[in-house]
Parts: sequence; structure tokens; C-alpha cells
Amino acid sequence: MSFFLEFIRSPLTVGAVAPSGPALARTVTAAVPATGSPVVVELGPGTGSFTAAIQHRLAGRGRHIAVELNPRFARDLAVRHPAVDVVHADAADLASVLAQRGLGQADAVVSGLPWAAFAEEYQRDVLSAVVAALPAHGTFTTFAYVHTRWAPPARRLLRGLRSRFDEVVIGRTVWANLPPALVYGCRRPNVVPVRPDVEEIRLVTAARH
Ligand SMILES: C[S@@+](CC[C@H](N)C(=O)[O-])C[C@H]1O[C@@H](n2cnc3c(N)ncnc32)[C@H](O)[C@@H]1O
Repeated sequence: MSFFLEFIRSPLTVGAVAPSGPALARTVTAAVPATGSPVVVELGPGTGSFTAAIQHRLAGRGRHIAVELNPRFARDLAVRHPAVDVVHADAADLASVLAQRGLGQADAVVSGLPWAAFAEEYQRDVLSAVVAALPAHGTFTTFAYVHTRWAPPARRLLRGLRSRFDEVVIGRTVWANLPPALVYGCRRPNVVPVRPDVEEIRLVTAARH
């Protein structure tokens, strides 16, 4: 399965011309618990750069559910990683993916999604689905390409993360990735989702003080 060919077929869904490299995969998956039997959800696994790193870290523990919208990526990934529960579904439908498996929430969500290619409302829907899937101790990790960092969709993503998590840590730039990327580590999800209009009021209030 050619990542580039899928990008040509569906540039906005695939969102990158090449899969992430091992350095980014290591950094993005570092929040996957190193002990116990965690439920780990991976969103947008593509050809499996993060999948392999998560499997390596889990070393047979817990559950690994990978949610992929592209049917060809999903099919190939399931063949290459029989220990992973690969689901051909939309990340926005995470609640039903978990419910179908008798699970309410996940301990860690790792995203390979192309947030910068998502429209505002859709970005919000997927983020809400992620937060709803996380308990208080849950973690969410995602990344953004450095060259898109200041573009409106990437700034919107960061605002969305900060309004939904008490802690958002921007890691060091992973220069070894092509293109270089930044990893966002998010902890302590807000129990009550913040509505976008409320988000605006908060920003205005903060600016006044
Ligand atoms: C930028 S690629 C990243 C692939 C892989 N995680 C990596 O880092 O190499 C984005 C992936 O997200 C998938 N994707 C895009 N929108 C999605 C959605 N709404 N739900 C699930 N997967 C989605 C694409 O099909 C693609 O496989």
C-alpha cells in the first residue's frame, strides 16, 4: 500500500505525503502507559508508523484499537498487525467504536489525524469525541507540522486543546521527522466540554485581566 498514492487519491483525508518517521512515532507514543493493561486508542494510523511503536510499548499488554477512515489503509494494517483491533471508522464516532467493544473510555488516545486539513466544525467534533473518551487520568497526544504551526487550522487546534485540557505541553521540535513536527501532550480533560461561544467569552475575559 503506497502512502503517497493514497495522498494523491485523497489529499485532505490523508493530509501528508509520507508516513511519520520513527523519531516522531517514539515521541508521540511516549504517553502510552508502560505498566498495567491500558486501553489505547490510535486515531488515523495510516500505514502504521505509530501502530508499531504502540505495539512495541505495550509488549502484549492491554488493548490497542486503531480507528482508520481509509478502507485500504485499514485492511492492510489489520493484516500486518493481527494483535491490533483495526476499525474502519471515523474518529468522530469514537464513542460508538468503544461502546461496541463494551468499553466506556480509553486510558490513552494517540492521534495521527491531519487536523490542519479538517474544517472548523469537524475539528471540534473530533476533539469532543476524544475528550468524551478519556477519564480524568487519560492522556491525549497529537502532533502538528512545524511549517503549519501558525496557520489558522493549527492555531485553532491548539486553542481547542487548551480549552478542553487543563494541561497542554508542547514538546521539543522533532527535527528528524520529514517534515519536522511538534508533539502536543494533553492531560486532565475537562469534564464539561467547553462550547465555542463560551471559549470566546473566556478569551475576551482573559484579555481584559
Ligand atoms: C497524516 S496521516 C498519518 C498516518 C500515520 N499516523 C503516520 O503518522 O504516518 C493521517 C491519517 O488519518 C486518517 N484519517 C483522516 N481522517 C480521519 C478520520 N476522520 N478518522 C479516522 N482516520 C482518519 C487518514 O486516512 C490517514 O491515514
